[in-house]
Amino acid sequence: MELTLEEKAALVVGAGFWRSAAIERAGIPALTITDGPHGLRNQEGGGDHLGLGVSVPATCFPPATGLASSWNPELLERVGVALGDEAREQGVSVVLGPGVNIKRSPLCGRNFEYFSEDPWLTGELGGAWVRGLQSRGIGASLKHFAANSQETDRMTVSAEVDERTLREIYLPAFERIVIREQPWTVMCSYNRINGVAAAENRWLLTEVLRDEWGFEGLVLSDWGAVDSIVPAIAAGLDLEMPGPQAQSTAALVAAVRSGELDALALDTAAARVARLARVSTSSAAGDSGDRADPGDRAQSRSTAAAHHQLAREAAIESIVLLRNEGDLLPLATAQPIAVIGEFARTPRIQGGGSSQVSPTRVDTALDAISAIAPVEFAAGYSLGRRVDPEPLIGEAVAVAARSQTVLLFVGLPDGDESEGYDRTHLNLPPAHLRLISAVTAVNPRTVVILTNGGVVSLEPWHDAAPAIVEAWLLGQAGGTALADVLFGRVAPSGRLAESIPYRLQDTPSYLNFPGENDEVRYGEGIFVGYRYYESVELPVRYPFGHGLTYTTFEYSQLQVARDGSTATVIVTNTGERAGRDVVQLYVSAPTEGIAVPRRELRAFAKVDLEPGESRAVQLRLDRRAYSHWDTAISGWRVKGGQYIVAVGRSAHDIALSATVTLPRPKAGPLTMDSRIQEFLEHPVTGPLLARAAGDTAGREEGGTSLLDMVASMPMRRLLKFPGVGDQLSKIGVLIAVANNPVVRGIAWLFGRR
Ligand code: BGC
Repeated sequence: MELTLEEKAALVVGAGFWRSAAIERAGIPALTITDGPHGLRNQEGGGDHLGLGVSVPATCFPPATGLASSWNPELLERVGVALGDEAREQGVSVVLGPGVNIKRSPLCGRNFEYFSEDPWLTGELGGAWVRGLQSRGIGASLKHFAANSQETDRMTVSAEVDERTLREIYLPAFERIVIREQPWTVMCSYNRINGVAAAENRWLLTEVLRDEWGFEGLVLSDWGAVDSIVPAIAAGLDLEMPGPQAQSTAALVAAVRSGELDALALDTAAARVARLARVSTSSAAGDSGDRADPGDRAQSRSTAAAHHQLAREAAIESIVLLRNEGDLLPLATAQPIAVIGEFARTPRIQGGGSSQVSPTRVDTALDAISAIAPVEFAAGYSLGRRVDPEPLIGEAVAVAARSQTVLLFVGLPDGDESEGYDRTHLNLPPAHLRLISAVTAVNPRTVVILTNGGVVSLEPWHDAAPAIVEAWLLGQAGGTALADVLFGRVAPSGRLAESIPYRLQDTPSYLNFPGENDEVRYGEGIFVGYRYYESVELPVRYPFGHGLTYTTFEYSQLQVARDGSTATVIVTNTGERAGRDVVQLYVSAPTEGIAVPRRELRAFAKVDLEPGESRAVQLRLDRRAYSHWDTAISGWRVKGGQYIVAVGRSAHDIALSATVTLPRPKAGPLTMDSRIQEFLEHPVTGPLLARAAGDTAGREEGGTSLLDMVASMPMRRLLKFPGVGDQLSKIGVLIAVANNPVVRGIAWLFGRR
């Protein structure tokens, strides 16, 4: 049925906070959208997007910061499936997630919602989440597209990023997920990219997303990201959220009538909204409007129990054991334990803002530990800001002094990090720092357990704590998961998805974050996270990929296929307990002529191994693993030459490496604009030129080489110099001969002998 212009305009603007317009006459239902990503935030009767309003209880899985530390795509896929099932039960058709923005600075207030500083890991994990969700007939919304790596001025700031950096760091996770999983929707971000708002960015929304990557779904705006709907639709946006926005609808109608907006652009966007609404499984629920019947929407008990169990499994895999001197962990069950820290009793399970879920239940670490061992508890601090910490610290110290072992829970309280603003430092609250120093002074057997969404500094207390557990934000089952790991019911298997620096000043974006005058310059370029630390050999407290467990693993027999397409390594569990290892593969590209990170993660696999067990792990490497974005050709290029393929325990701790030599792309024909270097590398002109310059001796003896001095000069420029210019016609002939394929072939054969 043909839609009227007004109906089309109505379709591309939300009809409510969480739904699109329904056009009953044409059989187009409303689309019901709700927040995620680590649980559903289905708000009855409209709502807000800041997590303030009540939402229907749903399983609160660990946020992305935790899930990413699992390095386990299969787990993320199962979480996606569970979210899909809950969405179906609640009549929701699209879940707003995952957030695949890169952790450019540890200060970003929303890092708890993002996976990693590494695009490869982010793409693999985010992709698995999308695959799981969409397998249940529920759409994902890949967000926030793109370069939305800070909260400061998030609605107005322009991320000033060069194209290579965008292509290699900030876009690949989106690209991979779009190409492999076809998310039903992509959400454009609030910010501008190189001056152009994401919502109005034709390059981003149409040329890259659709023309290059083949995106078939719908682009919706972040909530309130559209300034002006007409240029947004022209650029490739399909749905402005939230609505209703009478002004936007009227502006669209007027713009099509006046010819300012191509009618086809509106037709296309409206058709995409209509198509998605029709295919979405919950059209009936959508039709009934914003208000959901809580009776129908509540999770069934059996689903709730099964999903809580999955949340516990996910939390276990999210925990990263950073340090374990003298094998303090795992704890024996019989020993009396001091549990100190309010977070053990009142856990912080998720971050603040639009992703905040009302959990179906919450397990506390205090209850879970008390069920296993005799416990004495002290709060140590209060989560209320105005309480004097000293008496609580005093009480905690007394408890610690008379206990065999202390489990000390510290971290960032809710207000310290959230959507909407960034942090300004990496430190724990002063009261927590004082508590750590007081408790470790009286009890050297102290395990520090951290609660935080973004990375926190482990200074100056690191050395005083023999064991440190990074527990991130673990979702609703985090308490039991922690007890499982601390008492060794399950071995920890998390690995850092981001580096933990010694100092904020060491972070690569330090001088360029969060920018000024509504501009933030991504001055560190591609050198984000470990790409920077490894390249400049700057030590960090714990590198990307680090994580201990209760056993040890060894690698042997790394073999890389000649074409670099696969690598195989044998992993052996050399300890006495079962455990899970994360095999990490890094590639170092040749450095001539281009700045490349020292090494980059290109593949990984998680494997279970019994004590003494060995297994061959095969990792696949595609062309992209060896490519960089070449601005000269505006495309991906494999430079060729010798690459190092390495297997490591982290980005810093490399165990084995092998080399693979990939062919260099054929050089194009020589011209007068070719550089002397290209003449030197050419099989025909190279030897001739070297001889003519009589320079060979100088080069070998380490003296100043004329050829080295002029290597970067185009031939045309060299000919301007006195004494060379009269060679013009000879050079012309030389180029013609050199470009002759037969001559070139013969010279190449001679060169090989
Ligand atoms: C956030 C999105 C969220 C949306 C809807 C925005 O403020 O940036 O991530 O999905 O609100 O709540």
